[in-house]
Amino acid sequence: MQNYVGNIIEFQLSAEGRKTARITCPPKAIPAPGQYLLAHAPDDADAPLAEGLFSAGHAPGSFIAAPPIPPTWQLGTSLHLRGPLGKGFRLPGTIRNLALVTLGDTLSRLLPLLPLADNAALFTAAPSSLFSSSPFLPLALEINPLADLPAALRWADFLALDLPLERLPELPKLLGLANDRYLPCPAQALIVTPMPCGGLADCGVCAVGRGQNVRLACTEGPVFEVKELLRDL
Ligand code: FES
Repeated sequence: MQNYVGNIIEFQLSAEGRKTARITCPPKAIPAPGQYLLAHAPDDADAPLAEGLFSAGHAPGSFIAAPPIPPTWQLGTSLHLRGPLGKGFRLPGTIRNLALVTLGDTLSRLLPLLPLADNAALFTAAPSSLFSSSPFLPLALEINPLADLPAALRWADFLALDLPLERLPELPKLLGLANDRYLPCPAQALIVTPMPCGGLADCGVCAVGRGQNVRLACTEGPVFEVKELLRDL
């Protein structure tokens, strides 16, 4: 983990029509899938806290920051970047069939996983028409309703979720798991929750789980093994 300087050089729209930002920075600063940077605009007096940024894709010398992007950031805004932070997705080698699941307001944080698989299918509560004309998604990406997810668990070699913390209790039902909570494929979830200090001040805001099983999303996540999340529910 280090400190870097970045610059916003372009705004784009994500697959679901939300604002993303292309940020130039040293290659070492670009977060791996599921990792994040804490970004702070020192000239922005209205946003004193750092913003957690995830990559939605990258090119040499820059990456696209997934939504949300603070409304006060402009083209040319200079950013102090700290990171990359946290544990990202850890895929078991080459993936043939990848299932992506988004329960939040963007699928952008999962997009960097697409090049790592031969086939991919997305499961979302959003209407498929929302994504049908997006230039950010490969034509081969199947878009499916969440209700089809339980049947797809036997097709998938790996399951990656983008999961807001408040929706974690829904996970067993969403996956259609029986009482033994057996999962037929490896699965990891990016838990979306505020991580204001990135582990620097031990603020505890990003706590996941209960009692002795509490873990900090900022340092022990934000990507967790789904088996562990299910065990701690
Ligand atoms: S964000 Fe402060 S401890 Fe995790």
